Amino acid sequence: MNLEEARQRILELVEEINTHDYNYYVLDSPVLSDREYDLLKRELEKLEKKFPQLVTPDSPTQRVGGKPLETFKTVNHGAPMLSLDNAFSVNELRNFVRKIKNIDGNSPLEYVVEPKMDGLAVSLLYESGVLVRGATRGDGYVGEDITHNIRTIKSVPLKLREKVYLEVRGEVYFPHKAFQELNQRRAEEGLPLFANPRNAAAGSMRQLDPAAAASRPLDIFFYGLGSYEGFPFRTHMDMLKYLKGLGLKVNPHTALYSDFDQVMEVCQEWAVKRYELPYEIDGMVIKINDLELQARAGYTARSPRWAVAFKFPAEQVETTVEDIQVSVGRTGALTPIALLTPVKVSGSVVKRASLHNEDILRGKEVKIGDRVIIHKAGEVIPELVKVLTEKRTGKERAFVMPQSCPACGQPVAHLPEEVAIRCMNASCPVQMYERIVHFASRGAMDIEGLGPAAARLLWENRLVEDVADLYYLKKEDLLTLERMGEKSAQNLLDSIEVSKKNPLNKLLYGLGPRFLGEKGSKIIAQHFGSLDRIMSASEEEITAVPEIGPKIAASIVEFFQNPSNRSVVEKLRSAGVNFHRSGEQGEGKEQIFEGRTFVLTGKLEAFSRPEAQSRIENLGGRVTSSVSGNTDYVVAGENPGSKLDQARSLGINVITEAQFQELLENKE
Ligand code: IVH
Repeated sequence: MNLEEARQRILELVEEINTHDYNYYVLDSPVLSDREYDLLKRELEKLEKKFPQLVTPDSPTQRVGGKPLETFKTVNHGAPMLSLDNAFSVNELRNFVRKIKNIDGNSPLEYVVEPKMDGLAVSLLYESGVLVRGATRGDGYVGEDITHNIRTIKSVPLKLREKVYLEVRGEVYFPHKAFQELNQRRAEEGLPLFANPRNAAAGSMRQLDPAAAASRPLDIFFYGLGSYEGFPFRTHMDMLKYLKGLGLKVNPHTALYSDFDQVMEVCQEWAVKRYELPYEIDGMVIKINDLELQARAGYTARSPRWAVAFKFPAEQVETTVEDIQVSVGRTGALTPIALLTPVKVSGSVVKRASLHNEDILRGKEVKIGDRVIIHKAGEVIPELVKVLTEKRTGKERAFVMPQSCPACGQPVAHLPEEVAIRCMNASCPVQMYERIVHFASRGAMDIEGLGPAAARLLWENRLVEDVADLYYLKKEDLLTLERMGEKSAQNLLDSIEVSKKNPLNKLLYGLGPRFLGEKGSKIIAQHFGSLDRIMSASEEEITAVPEIGPKIAASIVEFFQNPSNRSVVEKLRSAGVNFHRSGEQGEGKEQIFEGRTFVLTGKLEAFSRPEAQSRIENLGGRVTSSVSGNTDYVVAGENPGSKLDQARSLGINVITEAQFQELLENKE
């Protein structure tokens, strides 16, 4: 056989084997017998060995390639990989629909209902129809490159049926049976067991050696797109159909409904039927079918407004309340906490469950010594579901909330319109300590090395009494602390120093007026531009800021009227902490993007997404994830997605990366 003949035959074989893999792994309906398949594969292997120059990346022999990696590379997602909002009850589902109807009250809604696979979210990039990259979700913007492991999943096509560019999103999962077999094998080999199929899937995808992943029969379902080159879909169902047509595996239990009652019924049916599936699902995802309506609904910072996950009720377990303790939070709220006999719930051991406040404590009628049912709300937060009063022995003890703060002994107050009992002592030591922990936390001033343990140490040794004291710490003081060496002291001082340059929103959130979250802090910082302007703003002015309600406004005003908070602010000012919108880079800069909204699409050469976003924000602009009538600019990088078409159809200013850079360079 000459080179040309070999090329031709290899082409045929690759095509034939890939089609067979598709029939077997995607459609689950094999056409060839195992023997016929093996013969084809062997023929291909032989030819490729003889003509290694003819091996193509989409050859089925190339699924497990090469040596183990040293480390994972990082990957910038073309479009962010967001999460889903959860609904735990029919009522919450109704709320979701109500909000959508507020956007579009007239036209009848169509809902796509999909199983919510419990595995690992991945993003696969196909260029000209060829799989070039697979990545984990990571923080939603930057993930890890797991191409070597993704290629080992037999239902992942190495080549699509069309030569398209797309970033397709799906869930890698571990089928039940294979999971049990894996754990059995591991038990026999004396290896630690995986807690659940999700951990097994995630663990397999995070192996550096592709051979490890290849030995595990992982599977995948695709449910969405990231960035892609313009296809004119009208609905989510059209898009799924298109993915299917390309050879991508879409969950066959996906269905379309136009009646909301039916959606609820189906979700409830699946809460039982899920046990018949060969893989784990933890809920159903409900998506608005109409893509135009999806675009209008848009996104919050973490999830689309056009989709919701209906989560199945969590595992429920019985245990005993051994004691009830009261903790004091950063805002002085007293929280009763049930200390439980440790039990395993949804994969981890639970020892405590918050009882939230006195009303809930009373409502549940829980006593010390009670047998109780607990579960994990949202599969995460331990919660006491109910007391098994029928199991009482008479030895249980009633619990009453204390009348004085367990931390400082001062009397507590039950404020009108509040459920919480609150310690009103602004210098209550526990509150002060909790405030320091919050101030240093990731979303706030992000002071590395200052977690709860370090904060406790500083505070117990009276080195800091309020958050501003952090900026006056001296190395010799730190060195007197237990387990604080020269190096860690210097590191801590360095990260405190760095935090001085944080933008205003982080400082504001860190100071911690009640009810003000990270998002609200960003909006307010963006609007007012400096801490002094926020401090002098009236309640009306703050309420007038879009998305900020009267409760937050009142809390901010109250916070800055408080003399001890004002003195903390002055101490921060003298220490040189940035009080301006954009941190160091933005200080004194002309806010040329003030009030302008940007959408980024496609891959930018010179910046990562978060970088481009912070440059825009530094100049007063805002970045949103979807194009709407409020968008001022769309910055189009390489391979822009559907956002570009949307921008064009709405007549929005589209600029290239070069033009964007020019804007920045002129003005920064
Ligand atoms: S859609 C922007 N559909 O659930 C919309 N997600 O809690 C993003 N998941 O990270 C997700 N099955 O890993 C969607 N049918 C499905 C899904 C699904 C499982 C996972 C996915 C996502 C997580 C969100």
